[in-house]
Amino acid sequence: MKRTVVTVKQQKIDNDKITMLTAYDYSTAKLMDEAGIDIILVGDSLGMVMLGYDNTLSVTMDDMIHHSKAVARGVINPLIVTDLPFMSYQTSVYDACVNAGRLIKEGNANAVKLEGGKEFTTHIKAISNASIPVMAHLGFTPQSINSLGGNYVQGKSLDVAKKLLDDARAVEEAGAFAVVLECVPMVLAEYITKNISIPTIGIGAGAGCDGQVLVYQDLLNLYGDIVPSFVKQFANGTEIFKTAFKSYIDETKSGLFPTSKHSFKMSDDIFNQLISSDKSGNK
Ligand code: KIV
Repeated sequence: MKRTVVTVKQQKIDNDKITMLTAYDYSTAKLMDEAGIDIILVGDSLGMVMLGYDNTLSVTMDDMIHHSKAVARGVINPLIVTDLPFMSYQTSVYDACVNAGRLIKEGNANAVKLEGGKEFTTHIKAISNASIPVMAHLGFTPQSINSLGGNYVQGKSLDVAKKLLDDARAVEEAGAFAVVLECVPMVLAEYITKNISIPTIGIGAGAGCDGQVLVYQDLLNLYGDIVPSFVKQFANGTEIFKTAFKSYIDETKSGLFPTSKHSFKMSDDIFNQLISSDKSGNK
């Protein structure tokens, strides 16, 4: 069944946990669809896990469109949410609408995500008014890494906890259809979840959220540069990939690969004709 913002909101009402994973390419997205994922997030985390940057700040609109398109070609059922990258919406409400529109028209996304609370309610309203669903993102917001000053967990102090709750209510009021809560204490995330009508999707925010999201390289242990403590590795991709790469290298060097099974045949007759023609100098 095709997931939409309506079915995702219904999942909160039905107490049916929402599953979301990041994907950035056709093949991975297709596998996730086949596995039954509800939402695929084309996250700007692609800057780190796909492009090798230290953070998400260098990611461009063109990067997001390129990967969003690839994901869209691979999926039928999941809702595709694509991140608005750094400085594609912070600059003005106009930029926010134009760039959200590009992610839908060129990137074939179904919805967009942006980081921030009260300060961005006008942006959320304007994008939603253009019939583009918006997912908000609160708590640790990687695009603000320079102003957050290295603190990952957000909301441990009363002031910040109050701001997070206010922000969650503000994005709900502005028309966001869901909100990501990243690195927020479990009890606070659960309290927010119970006190807003839109689904919360947690990452490092505990089991009290309406859904969960992970970066797929983290889930598969494929990205060793940073391994957040909230990540559960559901497979050891590093080991599986490295063992396969090594076997390929060893078998190629030793001549075990390729065998005739991995090669193409031609008729002996034609091959013999080629040799005699070559030897006699005929064309
Ligand atoms: O870009 C991303 O992958 C994200 C998730 C961590 C929620 O925003």
